Amino acid sequence: MQKQILVTGGTGYIGSHTVVELQKAGFEVVIVDNLSNSKIEVLDAIEKISGVKPIFEKIDLDDKKATDHFFDQYTKIDAIIHFAAFKAVGESVQKPLEYYRNNLNSLMNLLDNMRRHAISNLVFSSSCTVYGQPDKLPVTEQTPRKPAESPYGNTKAISEDIMNDFCKVNASVNCLALRYFNPIGAHPSALIGELPVGVPGNLVPFITQTAAGLRKELSIFGDDYNTPDGTAVRDYINVVDLAGAHVVAINRLLNKKNKRNFEFFNIGTGNGVSVLELVKTFIEVTGVNLPYKIAPRRAGDIEKIWADTSLANTELGWKAEKSVAETLLSAWNWEKSVRGIK
Ligand code: NAD
Ligand code: WQD
Repeated sequence: MQKQILVTGGTGYIGSHTVVELQKAGFEVVIVDNLSNSKIEVLDAIEKISGVKPIFEKIDLDDKKATDHFFDQYTKIDAIIHFAAFKAVGESVQKPLEYYRNNLNSLMNLLDNMRRHAISNLVFSSSCTVYGQPDKLPVTEQTPRKPAESPYGNTKAISEDIMNDFCKVNASVNCLALRYFNPIGAHPSALIGELPVGVPGNLVPFITQTAAGLRKELSIFGDDYNTPDGTAVRDYINVVDLAGAHVVAINRLLNKKNKRNFEFFNIGTGNGVSVLELVKTFIEVTGVNLPYKIAPRRAGDIEKIWADTSLANTELGWKAEKSVAETLLSAWNWEKSVRGIK
């Protein structure tokens, strides 16, 4: 029988790509989202890609009553992937309570319902932000977590702790956290992708919007870091590759291949890429003009981070496949389709 996966935040950026990969792998998907940072039209785009429109319920997972009601109605869920969260680092500094409330309550409301309805499996969106600026690179899962730089980052660390504590006393519950590095790019169909509201805080959407003429120029934040070209280094992971990691994680839990009932994995490419390298690759693969200037460092930024992905490679059998060049081209094709650029 077809297994049913609840995808919270499934109309969002990473969620929508994961829904497509889950459908491709033969799962039935139920999306719960409150549309606070996504659009209902994403469902049509998913249907265009996969041929199947996912079931959708508009629910705020911070609302315990509404969440309980949802689980009372949907009694066939085999596993949950929990994407729903607020994710803007800068905004979280301004609105800490909103971030703690939304990101932590939604997780606790889900865990509570897993217990109530004997749902065993949860895959959680964590982040490399839990490592802060590591002392040694690349980071493995053994690398110690550092105190969070922002309330957003702290919600990820606390969420991991909540799952760890919950799993200790609920032996039948399995939680698996994926610590994403920097997800970028869009589906090759250019039907789904990242749609930031307002001025993008993240690098790649700022690049594509600048190339599309929406922004005057890109500011590269800092060229005096201790890196080969002085600009900051990150591990940029293609969103479709990342989506695939969720399918693998779900299969691990459903097939009871997990070794402990709380596990976590780095999900990146294993390669560090500097801001300047990324910008140059974008210009090269798209042939588009991208005005940029060097600007001061951005407060709160770390210098460099990239993943050791050995554990994901060996334990999950997962590996990133797409190149940064291909991924940047997909981001540009998505931007062009959103803006109606030929
Ligand atoms: P996104 O904002 O595009 O998607 C999140 C979705 O969750 C949105 O559709 C939003 O409407 C929904 N949502 C938020 N709060 C909700 C609530 N209370 N109830 C129901 N729905 C709610 O973000 P994304 O980039 O797809 O990120 C998905 C997850 O991955 C998040 O947990 C994020 O913290 C994590 N993550 C993202 C990145 C990144 O750079 N994009 C990196 C690491 C981790
Ligand atoms: C990448 C690099 C910037 C914009 C954030 C979160 C992290 C995770 C991923 C969720 C940095 C530089 C950026 C610009 C620039 N999210 N930059 N000009 O900061 O690595 O990580 O997203 O969990 O928690 O903090 O990603 O895309 O913002 O920046 O030079 O206009 O690009 O300084 O070096 P970041 P980013």
